[in-house]
Amino acid sequence: MPKPLSILFVASEIYPIAKTGGVADVAYGLPLALRDLEHDVRVMLPKYGAISERKNKIHEINRLKDIPIDVGNVREFATVKSSSIVNTRTKVQAYMTTNKPYFDSKWGLYSDPETGEEYPDNDERFIFFARSVIQTCTLLGWIPQVVHLNDWHTALVAAYMRTLYTQQFKNTKIVFTIHNISNQGVFPLKTFQKTGLPDTALENLKHKNKINFLKAGITYADHITTVSKTYGEQLLSDAKLTDGLNTLLRARKDSYTPIINGIDTTIWTPEKDKLIVKRYTIDSLDKKVENKEALVKRFNLQYKPETPLIAMVSRLVEQKGFGLLKEAANALFQEDLQLVILGEGDKDIEEWLQAIAQQYPQKMGVKIGFDENLSHLMEAGSDMYLMPSLFEPCGLNQMYSFAYGSVPIVRATGGLKDTVHEFDPVSRIGNGFIFEEYNAEAMLAAVRRALALYKDKSLWVQIIKNGMSEDHSWHNSSRKYEEIYRKLLQPQTNGKA
Ligand code: ADP
Ligand code: GLC
Repeated sequence: MPKPLSILFVASEIYPIAKTGGVADVAYGLPLALRDLEHDVRVMLPKYGAISERKNKIHEINRLKDIPIDVGNVREFATVKSSSIVNTRTKVQAYMTTNKPYFDSKWGLYSDPETGEEYPDNDERFIFFARSVIQTCTLLGWIPQVVHLNDWHTALVAAYMRTLYTQQFKNTKIVFTIHNISNQGVFPLKTFQKTGLPDTALENLKHKNKINFLKAGITYADHITTVSKTYGEQLLSDAKLTDGLNTLLRARKDSYTPIINGIDTTIWTPEKDKLIVKRYTIDSLDKKVENKEALVKRFNLQYKPETPLIAMVSRLVEQKGFGLLKEAANALFQEDLQLVILGEGDKDIEEWLQAIAQQYPQKMGVKIGFDENLSHLMEAGSDMYLMPSLFEPCGLNQMYSFAYGSVPIVRATGGLKDTVHEFDPVSRIGNGFIFEEYNAEAMLAAVRRALALYKDKSLWVQIIKNGMSEDHSWHNSSRKYEEIYRKLLQPQTNGKA
């Protein structure tokens, strides 16, 4: 039996403490799965203003109070508190950085919930957070063997470890996961001075004459991963998608592995889900309809058992394909279907979604906001689940949809392409509907294929069962991460995996 590893997993959001999207679910499910493999895993995130101390059972740690941290010429203080994340099997300790101006006094994670504007001091906030990660390890005397960083918000940790703190972290390996390269943490050059990094680091952060936090992750990490095979290929080849960072990634190709995300199957399972109206399994699909009835009513639509119900739960951003939906809306609502959407994000998308729902009040329901509980009922109650993404690094909702017997209709990009396979009525193989081109016609055609199949109950049950019987848990992917960690730590590989 190889020895368990010590791993610090750092992310800007971790379910259920703070969540805006899929990173939070990964930063929950993966550490818990690694803990199941016996590793000493701990997680760390900032404590934003919206996080309740009581609900998350947060308490103080004596050694981690009032830690001085310099951001440029300003000295601020971090108090790092402790909480945990749990599932039905396991528990993992969570450290949370508190600081009044940067986190406690700000309700949103990255932007002001009132205006939708990004916080103007996001560079300072995540410099401060990165330095608090370093200080936490040092003051605890817990120097993990692996530090696993996620997206630009945490990337500077790698830069600090390999410049100012080389001695402490000389035996620590760094893994950096890119969940979404469309956000790189780009700031004016003067941000560099606030990092306190040595001048020699500038070239590793500078991209297109700006400071780019994500670039630091790519240059300083020992190994880079991303969240699906297809997105992995896109990151190496697509200059537009990566804003030119693809060349840098190509240069690191030997230290780069795509690993598909998993889902936490103790949380996302219709068999045990307490957030849905009626629990069910692959053998009691008849009970799923009670969820459908409850769901349409939540959206003030009329319950029509024979009419297919399509759901979307999503950040309302261009990435998620709302442009296509807007273009296709009039044609879509000529069909016999109902559509329910839960999401928040860009104000203009929020507005036109509400306008279309007003135009088709019998057919479309929209709820603007973030509602974790409702998101479960959306999976359990819907017949189909739409993800027409422009790009999608991995996507988790199509995998939740498989688990809940809601058939995904998706565009062939990133993780959607890797997990969803068009159903073939002859061989009865396949788990969803998929279209290639990013245009309304292609999307409508896929929706129409789904609507046609829905009429054949035997085939429809088959497609549901195909999806429900697949394994999308973290079982396989957590082992792939473990393998990377172990390879990096092997002395004979000279630190490269
Ligand atoms: P992304 O990370 O790009 O947003 P993913 O498919 O990986 O996309 O993950 C999205 C996660 O966020 C899912 O768990 C989804 O249910 C959740 N989610 C997104 N928007 C909302 C919302 N408005 N209310 C509740 N959950 C949401
Ligand atoms: C990002 C991506 C999404 C992915 C998630 C978790 O937010 O947009 O596709 O599933 O990260 O990796």
